[in-house]
Amino acid sequence: MTHKKYPASQHVLKTFTKLIELLPAVEQNKPQIVLLAGEVTPFRNDTDREMPFRQESNFFYLTGCKVPSSYALLTFQSGTSLANKPSSHLFIPKAELADLMWSVPPPSIAEATATHDVTSIDHPAALPEAIQEQIKAFPGAIVHILPTSSLFPKIPAQYTAAFLAGNVNVTEDYLLTAVHRARLTKDAAEIELIRRANQISSRAHETVMRVLGQGIRGQIKRGKGAGTERPLLPGEWLIEREYEAEALFVASCRREGAEHQAYLPIVAASTRASTLHYCCNDREFSWGPVGPHDHHNTNDLAHDHERVLNPQVLLIDAGCEWSCYAADITRTMPVGNGGRFTPEARAIYELVLEMQRLSMEALKPGLHWDAVQLLSHRTLVRGFQKLGIFRSPESPGSGSWNSEEAILASGISAAFFPHGLGHSLGLDVHDVPSASKPDVNPTIEHLQLGHESFYTYLRLRLPLEEGMVVTVEPGCYFSPHLIAPVRDSKHIDQEVLKRYESVGGVRIEDVVLITKDGYENLTTVRSDPDWLEQVCAGEI
Ligand code: GLY
Ligand code: MN
Ligand code: MN
Repeated sequence: MTHKKYPASQHVLKTFTKLIELLPAVEQNKPQIVLLAGEVTPFRNDTDREMPFRQESNFFYLTGCKVPSSYALLTFQSGTSLANKPSSHLFIPKAELADLMWSVPPPSIAEATATHDVTSIDHPAALPEAIQEQIKAFPGAIVHILPTSSLFPKIPAQYTAAFLAGNVNVTEDYLLTAVHRARLTKDAAEIELIRRANQISSRAHETVMRVLGQGIRGQIKRGKGAGTERPLLPGEWLIEREYEAEALFVASCRREGAEHQAYLPIVAASTRASTLHYCCNDREFSWGPVGPHDHHNTNDLAHDHERVLNPQVLLIDAGCEWSCYAADITRTMPVGNGGRFTPEARAIYELVLEMQRLSMEALKPGLHWDAVQLLSHRTLVRGFQKLGIFRSPESPGSGSWNSEEAILASGISAAFFPHGLGHSLGLDVHDVPSASKPDVNPTIEHLQLGHESFYTYLRLRLPLEEGMVVTVEPGCYFSPHLIAPVRDSKHIDQEVLKRYESVGGVRIEDVVLITKDGYENLTTVRSDPDWLEQVCAGEI
């Protein structure tokens, strides 16, 4: 089997190009050297138990290397052959006897050379000499490192000492921004990895929905001795608790080989769906007593026959990584009520889907993400006016104070949609923050903002570019904490709002690629409500 190499050398070139753009003119023709440390295997406190290893994202981007405790030394100089083909030297640990005995050793240099797109590979013992050679060969070079902080792997003093002794200019001012700017747009190889992460995660979402549907129809049979003489097998798992849904989601991803989740899964039932990053996932679904007119849970395996599941939503925001690239998908599904949304939940679901649909239809290179954020608030305001949660301009006593523009300008919609419409996604789920929301950002000066609160948690504040990968994740929540300060607003009809509060929250999130003239949705699990209800009711 031929291995398609991860295109690390292209990423090195792109990063140096961005780095040169950031440097003062007088520094741009000097040789530029990058020294990077990869992640080390973490251990729990002072014990010998290793925790999951995940390569540092920038290191992976520039080397394609997932071996713990590795280093990279990269060199570029404008006007030389290194300007088209920077050198990149990778240093991976040598296999020690203890590694062979306790765990799987790192690859040999020959094995690593066959699978990595770098100039050379050696062991870290050779790094000090390699650094000395670079200093000699490139007098006046600027050495770039990532910020010295707990956020990035530390470069041991033995490696930086050579630079300090040689009076070399070492700076951490440019590299992180340069590599983040390079990572902001994705190449074909990266898009394929994100696509794969989305396909696996999409199947995991659909698996949970289908098992919910089977449960409703009593189709989950437990064989002889199940749960007493023997453990339940996966086909016998019911989902009636948040962590039961999480278990199935994670198992489905892992079964397809995904090593990590891209973030802690958020599995929130009932009104907990209004907590944006709820990730304790430790509660039962909401149950009510069986009343004379209730739909009875026909499933004879249900945890308790005296109760039925209350109608509620289940919000699952979860995605795995594939080869360090993330998926980030949210689906909100009906639970109880025979697998159908209540009329209120369905209305909010359709509104959020409309927010997402109109946002996606607008996507194309050049459009500022702030404008899409404003559009999604506009759609929410229109929807709330239609539902009567916001007083409509046609209602008696209304005036210009309650026009769509006035409501947008008041910022009140942020109490129901408090987060950003989406963010850049790639090696990290909230990808490249320094590039996607720069501290100095002339692109937002001339925009119609609506209200500044719409942008507080917006993680992308740039015009879209072809090759960007972003999430589109509108939501609508009825959080008591966020509603309290606006409850008495003249814009809100209290009686109508009360009817919707028990919905808790709805979010729908897909990952899209910005293309030459629009977008491509990389998330494959469906979200149209008829399909969703049929699956969650076990009908299809
Ligand atoms: N999963 C976190 C987010 O959607 O941004
Ligand atoms: Mn997201
Ligand atoms: Mn998410």
